[in-house]
Amino acid sequence: MSIRWKIFSVYFIILIISLASTGIYLFNNIYESYLSNERVTNLTQANMIANLVSKFIGVSSYLIEPTIVDYSNQINSRILFTDVKGKVIVDSAGNGEMEGEDINNYSDVKSALKGSGSTSIHYITGSGWTMYSAVPVTIKNEIVGSILLSTSIDDVMNFLYSIKMRMIYTFTAIGSIVSILSLIVAAFITKPLKRLTDATKVISEGKFDYKVEIRGNDEIGKLADAFNDMSTKLMKIDDERKRFVSDASHELKTPLAAIKALVEPLISSDNVDISVYKEFLKDINSEVDRMTRLVNELLVLARIDKIHSIENKTENIGEIAYNVVENLEAIARQKGVSLIFESDKNIFADVDADRFYRMIYNVVENGIKYTPSGGTVKLNLDSDDKNVYITISDTGIGISQETLPKVFERFSRGDTARSQKTGGFGLGLAIVKEIVDLHKGHIDVKSTVGEGTEFYITIPVKNV
Ligand SMILES: Nc1ncnc2c1ncn2[C@@H]1O[C@H](COP(=O)(O)OP(=O)(O)O)[C@@H](O)[C@H]1O
Ligand SMILES: [Mg+2]
Repeated sequence: MSIRWKIFSVYFIILIISLASTGIYLFNNIYESYLSNERVTNLTQANMIANLVSKFIGVSSYLIEPTIVDYSNQINSRILFTDVKGKVIVDSAGNGEMEGEDINNYSDVKSALKGSGSTSIHYITGSGWTMYSAVPVTIKNEIVGSILLSTSIDDVMNFLYSIKMRMIYTFTAIGSIVSILSLIVAAFITKPLKRLTDATKVISEGKFDYKVEIRGNDEIGKLADAFNDMSTKLMKIDDERKRFVSDASHELKTPLAAIKALVEPLISSDNVDISVYKEFLKDINSEVDRMTRLVNELLVLARIDKIHSIENKTENIGEIAYNVVENLEAIARQKGVSLIFESDKNIFADVDADRFYRMIYNVVENGIKYTPSGGTVKLNLDSDDKNVYITISDTGIGISQETLPKVFERFSRGDTARSQKTGGFGLGLAIVKEIVDLHKGHIDVKSTVGEGTEFYITIPVKNV
C-alpha cells in the first residue's frame, strides 16, 4: 500500500471513530434528557390520580370512574385503575374496554403493586410510540391498587428521530469533506517523494547532474537537498573518472607513437646496419619500460579505488621506513644527494605494510628526483600515543604556488618534471594521497621554489 493510502486510511479510521463516538454520545444525551422529562411528567400525573382515587375509595367510590375519564380527557392519556391483584377496575378508553382483565403481567403494573413507580416505552402497531407509567394506589401506606398511564410519545420520538437523521447527515458531510481534504493532504505530502523516486531513476540512467526542485525545511526538503548534494558529487566523480581515462589513454599513446616512429623506418628500409637496429631496439625497450611503469601505477590506483577500508595489522613503522631508505640509497648516492633517516625509537601503528611502504617510497623518491646534486633529503619519524608523524623534507627545486594545490591530483606534474625525459606520470603523489586516506590520515605540503619542499603525513596509531 502506498504512503498516500496509508495516510488516508489512518485519517479515515480516526475520523470515523471520533465522529461516530461523538455522535452516539451526543444523541444518547439528548435522548435521555428528553425521555426522562417525559417520565417525570407522567409519573407525577399518575401519582396525582392515584392520590385522588385513594381518597374516593370506600367513601365515594361512584366518583372514581367519572373522575378518571374526565382526567384522561384532560391530559390526553389512557388511564387504567387496577385492584391490588392487577385486575382492571376502570379503563378510561373505549367504554371501559379492558375492565375485568388481569394486567398483572405488565412489568410496570407489577412493580407498582410492589410499591414503586415505573415507566417503560413500547411501540404499539396502530398507535405508535407509547409510554407506560404505573404507580401504586395506597391507603394509609397499604397498597390497594395501581394506576397505569398510557401516553403517546410519538411527537417526542419523531423529534428525536429527526435530530438523529440530521446528525447523521451533518456528520456524513463533515466526514466526506475531511476525507477528501485528507486525500489531498496525503497527495501533497507524497508528491515530492514521487518526484524523488523519478529523479533517482534519471540518475541511475546516468544523468548524474539531474537535480530535484523541492524546497522547504522539512524532512523531505532535507532529503531533496541531500539528494542534490549526492548528484553533484556523482557528477564530480564521473568527471574525474572521464578525465582520468582520457589522461591515461593519452599517456599510453605517447610511448606507442614513439615505438611506431622507431619501428616504421626499420621496416621500410633495407640494408640497415645491425648497430642501428640495436640502437632503435634499445629505445623501443625503454619506451616499453615506461609503458610498463605507467600500467603498474594505474593498476595500483585501480586496486586502491576498489577498496574503502583496509585490514590493518600492527606493524613496526620504523622498520618499513628504514627499508625505503635502504632501497633508495643507491639512487640518491648516484645523484649525489645525501639521504638522512631520523627515527630513534621503535614506532608501531596499525597499517597496511605494503601500501605504507609505497606511500613513503613515493614521497622520498620525489625528494631525490627533484633535488639537485649536493642537496639533502631527510625522512623523519615521530609519534605520540595518538598519531605517527612522518616528515619528508628536501633542499630541492621546490614547487611553484600554481602547482602546489594540484600536486595530489592524478597526472599532475610540474613544468620541470614534464620537460624531463625521465619524468614520471604525475601519479606518485595521487597514490600517496589515496593511501593516506585509506589509513584515515592527513597529508600536507609546504614548498618554496629554489629552497626545498616538506611533506607532513599524520597517520593514527590505532585504526578504529
Ligand atoms: N619533492 C619535490 N620537489 C619538487 N617538486 C615536487 C616534489 N614532489 C613532487 N613534486 C612535483 O609534483 C609533481 C607530482 O609528483 P608525482 O605525483 O610524484 O609525479 P611524478 O611522477 O612527476 O613524480 C611532480 O611532477 C613535481 O612537479
Ligand atoms: Mg613521483
